[in-house]
Amino acid sequence: MIKIQNVRKEFNEDTKIRLKNMVFEDGKSYAILGVSGSGKTTLLNMIAGIINPTDGKIIVDNVEITKLTQKEKDKFRLKNIGYIFQDFKLIEDMTVEDNLNLLKIEKIDCVDINNILEQVGLKNKRKMKVKKLSGGEKQRVAIARALMKSPKIILADEPTGSLNYEKGLEIMELLHKFHKKSKHVMIYVTHDDRMAKYADKIIHFEDVLEKGGVE
Ligand SMILES: Nc1ncnc2c1ncn2[C@@H]1O[C@H](COP(=O)(O)OP(=O)(O)O)[C@@H](O)[C@H]1O
Ligand SMILES: [Mg+2]
Repeated sequence: MIKIQNVRKEFNEDTKIRLKNMVFEDGKSYAILGVSGSGKTTLLNMIAGIINPTDGKIIVDNVEITKLTQKEKDKFRLKNIGYIFQDFKLIEDMTVEDNLNLLKIEKIDCVDINNILEQVGLKNKRKMKVKKLSGGEKQRVAIARALMKSPKIILADEPTGSLNYEKGLEIMELLHKFHKKSKHVMIYVTHDDRMAKYADKIIHFEDVLEKGGVE
């Protein structure tokens, strides 16, 4: 479960984001729909402990993540949160399997790499460098890396943003298949309401911004 309490993020005088209190429940998937620049990535980054809110509390699985040191946050994220970044954050010059092996170096408990690659349909690409893959394949590597640690929380930032409709649907099917097997929270950001319909709950981001949200 994730709780957002009295959270405000002030990047500078011009950009202040205030969020209503929210609870994301275990076992549920949430699609966040909203216009560009409204603060969706900021919300995911705060839940993941990558950036800190200016004020307020974020509680992830009973841990008040906003209270942890940066090092503790990084450790917590590595262990508990599968974050599929909008730009993948893969190492392009490394092979698919070496990108996934990096998690093992961090001593995180993971499912077998062959197993996860099979599930995302990339078993025959394991020795290929990421830079040779298509956008959809890179997205699958990013998903494999996020999910191979069986995370308590799945966050995905525009997971279908760079894909055509059919490829986007395949990715959504894959994410939802994984989510259904877990009892955990999945939050994904999308621009496309055809992708949002997969979620148990659709959140229109403007509805969770306090009045004057981004000022
Ligand atoms: N590191 C930062 N420094 C200053 N402003 C930022 C920073 N990150 C995001 N912003 C601003 O915060 C607002 C929300 O950004 P973001 O969360 O990326 O929006 P979205 O993901 O909804 O498109 C934007 O106005 C953006 O320019
Ligand atoms: Mg964004």
